[in-house]
Amino acid sequence: MKLLGIDVGTSGTRAVVSDERGNVIASATSEHEAFASPRMGWAEQDARDWWRAGIEAVRAVLTEVRADEIKCIGFSGQMHGATLLDAKGKVVRPAIIWCDGRTSAQCRRITDEIGADELIESVANPALEGFTLPKLLWVRENEPELWERVRTILLPKDYVRFKLTGERATDVADASGTLMLDVKRRAWSSAMLDRMGIDAALLPVVYESPEVCARVSAEGARETGLMEGTPVVAGAGDQAAGAVGLGIVHPGAVSATIGTSGVVFAATDRPALDARGRVHTFCHAIPGRWHVMGVTQAAGLSLRWFRDQFGIGGAGDTEGHDAYERLSEEAATVPPGSDGVMWLPYLMGERTPHLDPHARAALIGLTANHTRAHVVRAILEGVAFSLRDTLTIFNEMNVPLEKIKLGGGGARSKLWRQIQADVYGCPVEVAEAEEGAALGAALLAGVGAGVWSSVDEACAQTVRLRERIEPDADAAKLMNTRYEVYKSLYPALRGIV
Ligand code: XUL
Repeated sequence: MKLLGIDVGTSGTRAVVSDERGNVIASATSEHEAFASPRMGWAEQDARDWWRAGIEAVRAVLTEVRADEIKCIGFSGQMHGATLLDAKGKVVRPAIIWCDGRTSAQCRRITDEIGADELIESVANPALEGFTLPKLLWVRENEPELWERVRTILLPKDYVRFKLTGERATDVADASGTLMLDVKRRAWSSAMLDRMGIDAALLPVVYESPEVCARVSAEGARETGLMEGTPVVAGAGDQAAGAVGLGIVHPGAVSATIGTSGVVFAATDRPALDARGRVHTFCHAIPGRWHVMGVTQAAGLSLRWFRDQFGIGGAGDTEGHDAYERLSEEAATVPPGSDGVMWLPYLMGERTPHLDPHARAALIGLTANHTRAHVVRAILEGVAFSLRDTLTIFNEMNVPLEKIKLGGGGARSKLWRQIQADVYGCPVEVAEAEEGAALGAALLAGVGAGVWSSVDEACAQTVRLRERIEPDADAAKLMNTRYEVYKSLYPALRGIV
C-alpha cells in the first residue's frame, strides 16, 4: 500500500510516494519555468506548466512504483496564486503568484471599505498584496475583458487537481490565504464575497485537508499513468502540509522552513490573532486546529539570486557538490557575524514584520577586505534574522514555543542549520524525512484512505528525529547583538531607497 503526495511548488513540482510507515519509496521533481516578472514586483507563472511538471514528476515515480499500489493521493502547493479559468476550464491569463506585489491600491481599497478591525474579525488577516482577493480585484479593474470570461478561480495545486480529476476543490488551509475564507468558521466568508462583489459560484468547494474530495479521471489517468478512480484528498497549502510532514501539529511545536520563501509556523488550538496583522492566522490541515505563521518573501530566493547573478554556476564540482553546497562551504570559512557584513533579504518586498511590498534588499557594511564568502554568510545570517522577527512576534502574542524544527532546502545545509540555532538562540531539530510538504500531502492522503485515524496519529507513527543542533554559546551571544543592528536597518533605509 502506497500514498502519493504531489507538491506544486514555485520552482518545481515534486511527487513523493510513501509507505504506511512514512518511508519515502520514490520521489521525483520536475522544474517549472522561472516565474516571469513583466514589471518590477510582478510575478506570474503559466499554470499549464505546473500540470506539465506534475505529469512528468508522477510519471517518473511510476517507473518505481506500480499505479495500482497507490491507495490515495494528496496535494500541497504554493499558496495565494490566482489561477483564472474560463467556461471550458482553459486558463484566461498567466497565474499571478504569491510573491507578486502589484495590488497595493486594491489592498488599500479593501481595507478602507471593510475596515482594518473588521477584516481581522471576518477573515482573520489584513489585506496583503500577495493574497488572492486583491489579485482578483486587480484583474477585474485592469483587464475587464479577461475578467468577464472567468468562470473558475483556483489556487495553484487545485488547478493541477482539476486537471487530474475534473473536480474544483480546495482545502481550508490553502483557502485561508485568499482573504475570502472565514478562518474561524472554516468556510467561505459570504459577507466578504458579497461586499467585494465576488460570485461564490466562481470558487471551488472547500474541504478539510484529509477529506477525500475527488478521484482520478479517465483523462487524468491517461496523462499521468495513475489508475482511474484513485481517491484524492483535499491536501493543504505548502506551509500547512510541510508542517504535517515535520509533525508540527500540537501547540508548542514550531517550524522554520526555508524554501523560496521562509516561514516560521506554529500550530494553535484556536485562531491566534496579531492585532497588527504581522503574522498570518490560517486554518491548519487538521480539523479543529489553526496556525500562525510569519513569512520572509525571499529566503532561499536570496541565495538563489546570488548564485544566479554573481557567477557560481549550477553545475556540480568534481566531488558532486552542487552550487548551494559549494556556497555554503565557502561561507563556513568566515566567522559568525560575517565580519560585519549584513544582508536585508527584501528582494521581493517583505511580509513579516513590515508588511511592505516595496521594501528593498540591502547589503551593508562592506570593506575591501571582505570576500564572496562573507557575502554568502551574511545572506544566510540575514535570512535567519528575518525569520527570528517572527519568533519575536510569537513571543509578544504568547504563542507557546517548546521546540523548533527546521524544514525546506535551508535545513539541508549544515552551516545554515547551525546559523539558525545560533540566531534563534535555542536548539533546533531536523526530521529524518526531508520531503516536507510533499510528504505531508502523502500523510494527509493516508488519513483520507483510513491508514491512520487522524493526522496526529499519522505524524506520531511516521515523523522521526534525525538530528538536534545546539546553539554555540559565543556565536549565539554575538548573533543577539547583531540582531539588534539588523532590526535598525529597515527603518534607517526605508526613506532612502
Ligand atoms: C505562504 C507563502 C509562500 C508560498 C510559496 O504564505 O506565500 O510560502 O506558499 O511557497
